[in-house]
Amino acid sequence: MTAVEDRYGRRIDYLRISVTDKCNLRCFYCMPEEGIPSKHHLEILRFEEILRFVRVAAGLGVRKVRITGGEPLARRGIVDFVAELAAIPGISEVAMTTNGTLLKECARSLKQAGLHRVNISLDTLDRDKFHRITRRGRLEDVWAGIETALESGLTPVKLNTVLMRGVNGDEVLEFARMTVRRPLHVRFIELMPIGESDASWSDSFLPVSRVREAIEGEMHLVPVAGKMGNGPAEYYQVPGAQGTVGFISAISNHFCSACNRLRLTADGRLRPCLQDRLEVDVRDALRHGEEDEPVRQAIVQALCFKPGRHHMTDGWQGQERLMSDIGG
Ligand code: 5AD
Ligand code: SF4
Repeated sequence: MTAVEDRYGRRIDYLRISVTDKCNLRCFYCMPEEGIPSKHHLEILRFEEILRFVRVAAGLGVRKVRITGGEPLARRGIVDFVAELAAIPGISEVAMTTNGTLLKECARSLKQAGLHRVNISLDTLDRDKFHRITRRGRLEDVWAGIETALESGLTPVKLNTVLMRGVNGDEVLEFARMTVRRPLHVRFIELMPIGESDASWSDSFLPVSRVREAIEGEMHLVPVAGKMGNGPAEYYQVPGAQGTVGFISAISNHFCSACNRLRLTADGRLRPCLQDRLEVDVRDALRHGEEDEPVRQAIVQALCFKPGRHHMTDGWQGQERLMSDIGG
């Protein structure tokens, strides 16, 4: 079956699944230092429930799945889950977004299980700054994860770098230089007003256009022809470089007209738009009933609710969920 369309004619073939709202780090723009009130484990979808959901979604045209969190590798049984996910008929690509700290231990088994590739969050190349941003992480662990991902063939390895003025704005050249030497694809992401609070959002916001200009002042960047992924990043390359530099202008130039995705939260809500608080409950349908039809109806309803565009440019929307809860 071909992908279903929403009411704006967008083909929805990409599903992001948050498998846990917990994380072993506490990036200051994502989670409060003390962590989040723990959801009861009964609130979180069981892997079998998620797999059933994906089977139904695949029947409606979903082809690509991304596993997110929280930190997906912090959930027990994730490797076996990936294997079952990758085996679902119709699913042609399974990817994961991770903070990389636990990746060294499981990259090989993830690859064997059928994971295609990983995106790894990395906001700084500086050890101390990394510890300050994540409030507990060790940069060495992430690098070990990145190297193992490359060796295991979880490629192309993309790095997610959230731009923050006064925090990592001074490192963008170093990130770009790194892509010359290493087959890494750095994606600079505009900070979104989702997370702990909006108080400092406009102070920290750094538009990707500024960053691109800064890089272009030092090195030659040429647009990469063709599509590099499912998403909204625009990719450039320093001629002869092993990797690329991507820009995700979520705020300054919203790409909602090309939005191809749905999100499933860890507690079983379908989220038509990252920013919109509107959600469709699918957990009940998955839990109380053998029939697939109510699950299908929830998906169709979520598609109907997909707004034409987000309104993040208006600033803080009173988000009731943290990014760790939605899965980015
Ligand atoms: N703005 C932009 N990106 C964010 N992420 C988390 N919170 C924000 C935010 N407020 C990123 C993480 C991760 C991805 C899932 O989303 O760094 O790479
Ligand atoms: Fe964890 Fe990612 Fe949030 Fe950092 S941004 S606290 S690594 S979920």
